[in-house]
Amino acid sequence: MSGPGTHPTHSDEPTRVMPSLAPATDGHMAPRAAASSEVVLDVRGLTHYFGDVCVLDHIDLQVRAGEIVGIIGPGGSGKSVLVKLCCGLLTPDAGQILVLGQDLREIDEKQRQALRTRIGLVFQNYALFDFMTVGDNVAFPMRQRGQATPEEISARVQERLAEVDLPKVQHLMPNELSGGMKKRVGLARANINDPELIFFDDPTAGLDPVTSSKIFNLIRRTQAQRNSTCIVISHDIDRMRPACDRYLLLADSKIYFQGTERDAMASDDPVVRDFFRRDEGVQ
Ligand SMILES: Nc1ncnc2c1ncn2[C@@H]1O[C@H](COP(=O)(O)OP(=O)(O)OP(=O)(O)O)[C@@H](O)[C@H]1O
Ligand SMILES: [Mg+2]
Repeated sequence: MSGPGTHPTHSDEPTRVMPSLAPATDGHMAPRAAASSEVVLDVRGLTHYFGDVCVLDHIDLQVRAGEIVGIIGPGGSGKSVLVKLCCGLLTPDAGQILVLGQDLREIDEKQRQALRTRIGLVFQNYALFDFMTVGDNVAFPMRQRGQATPEEISARVQERLAEVDLPKVQHLMPNELSGGMKKRVGLARANINDPELIFFDDPTAGLDPVTSSKIFNLIRRTQAQRNSTCIVISHDIDRMRPACDRYLLLADSKIYFQGTERDAMASDDPVVRDFFRRDEGVQ
């Protein structure tokens, strides 16, 4: 894919999706908390190679508190790598990443661990511990933070599993769950500490359309209740639409486009428009 690089169509003010404009396809409407001017993720000149292959080339990206930003793009375009870099799971070859005001290059291991308790991550491949029960998997980040009693942890685990429509699975092992159930357990785990910033890597892959819509509505509802900031990778543009304020389209190792859906549909680049076309999967 070739293209014009970052489009200048992105406006400085994030678009706020009002509830009345954002029907969830499962029939429920989740309200939204407004975005603020505080930048919670600030990425400058981010560059990453695997061997000789440049996966991300001078990426600049700012996300404000309270935004829900969708990341889309072809398979292999670097979406998951971008998220892993922003969570500190990979170290970039060049560039600066500030997460919740902290420069990942400058913090020590202790500060990094403390920062991780403020961040949630839903992995693309579930990444559940297969030797732990579902309940222990969901509880894991809360236990690591070490500030809650066993009773508080147990109550929170039940609450988070109920939120993803899995009220009775905490004593099961991950290999007793379907792929979609594992995805939802991953969501419950990512939310357990009420993180300020949550990365969702393909949270609805392998889920049926109804559950997928529910998951995007849950993302939206969670943002509203906790005023968190969400970065959501997905190929499911139709179902992510009601949740996202704006989008980044990654391609050719760059941010090929960033802006709202309206910006995308006004673009004269057919590649951009194709990604946002309703009911047509181009990815
Ligand atoms: N650990 C790794 N070692 C070597 N190459 C890697 C590694 N992780 C990712 N890559 C490469 O980086 C590129 C981007 O991968 P990434 O997983 O970010 O793609 P993606 O956009 O998330 O794709 P998908 O939509 O299929 O999930 C791919 O070419 C991939 O092969
Ligand atoms: Mg990926």
